[in-house]
Amino acid sequence: MNHILVTGGAGYIGSHTVLELLKLGENVVVIDDLSNSSKESLNRVETLSGKAVTFFEGSILDQDLLVNIFSQFSFSSVIHFAGHKAVGESVNKPLSYYHNNVQGTVSLVEVMEKFNVNNLVFSSSATVYGEGAKPPYIETQTLGCPTSPYGQTKLMVERILADVVRSNSDFKVANLRYFNPIGADESGQIGEDPNGIPNNLMPFVAQVAVGKRAELSIFGNDYATEDGTCERDYIHVTDLAQGHVAALNWLVNQAHGLCEAFNLGTGTPYSVLKIVKSFEQYTKVKVPFKFVPRRDGDLDAFWANADKAADKLNWQAHKTMQDMMEDTWRWQSNNPNGYNA
Ligand code: NAD
Ligand code: UD1
Repeated sequence: MNHILVTGGAGYIGSHTVLELLKLGENVVVIDDLSNSSKESLNRVETLSGKAVTFFEGSILDQDLLVNIFSQFSFSSVIHFAGHKAVGESVNKPLSYYHNNVQGTVSLVEVMEKFNVNNLVFSSSATVYGEGAKPPYIETQTLGCPTSPYGQTKLMVERILADVVRSNSDFKVANLRYFNPIGADESGQIGEDPNGIPNNLMPFVAQVAVGKRAELSIFGNDYATEDGTCERDYIHVTDLAQGHVAALNWLVNQAHGLCEAFNLGTGTPYSVLKIVKSFEQYTKVKVPFKFVPRRDGDLDAFWANADKAADKLNWQAHKTMQDMMEDTWRWQSNNPNGYNA
């Protein structure tokens, strides 16, 4: 029986993807060290899908554990989410990011090669386009220089995977470049549960709305955009999860080794102010905010050209801004303390 291995599957995007895979009847094995997640996410995924997930608590850096797992299951493919993702933290702890994200991937791919598992979907990021890139970002443009060590790890892993494909004509890789994932499964049972003070916009908005934080600080209102606040391409996490399913289906049907990148976004930018106003409109909950100076490293505006994913993967985002806001709120208001009930 074939299985799919999902690294980092207890995390935000991973848990939503595992849910979509189980709903389709796939057999899923998860490895996660729970460094930024809770096993409770997978308990809820099991309840929602009515299917079991095989879970291993441990790190992809632990090759003995990986070999043990690969010896027990026959994997058709691997979806690789495991990694650290806090941009600010990566500036202060670069070695931890290079070790976990880059060495972790090398460790995983070595074991994949050993067991002749040749299909890999990797969580990349729009950050690989770098600072000088002109939006909308398109896969054919030359990659830039990401400003943070976190971003560098994504670019390095993409390059490493391209080299692996050059050396192994059976190996197939889809690098999925996510734009800004937000929202939660429509059940309100699983969602984003950041540790400590949220770095990203949407969890901060949701925590203000639920009364955990007094007000949102909007970083800068003097950008070269319509209302002066930064613009991003926000994508519903369920659309993103379904993008992984589409990429896997495409990958396993390719005859030869390849390494292809796909933007996963909606193609539509929204400003920070528009996000706050949309949240208030669709949830009827006020979000007090103040303007503060710009955050270091923020770009004024970027969004995806998502045509390649539509053409080749037959995938596009369907959820609306209303879905993103309502689903975020359902998750946050049902689970004010995330998975720590
Ligand atoms: P997340 O932190 O919720 O999920 C990552 C998971 O990986 C966590 O459950 C964590 O415990 C686990 N993990 C970390 N290091 C590990 C290791 N060495 N071995 C095993 N498990 C490990 O983050 P997410 O938002 O779900 O992101 C998933 C992936 O997508 C990450 O690689 C991230 O860099 C990438 N990504 C995320 C975003 C975003 O906005 N959320 C955007 C672009 C790319
Ligand atoms: C961040 C990461 C990026 C990563 C992406 C998806 C940085 C610099 N970049 O992008 O590498 O791929 O997340 O996870 O962290 N904002 C506020 N107040 C807040 C939080 C955010 O005004 O409290 C603004 C930001 O200035 C930005 C927008 O909201 O304009 C979105 O921010 P965020 O959610 O952190 O995502 P990005 O910065 O786009």
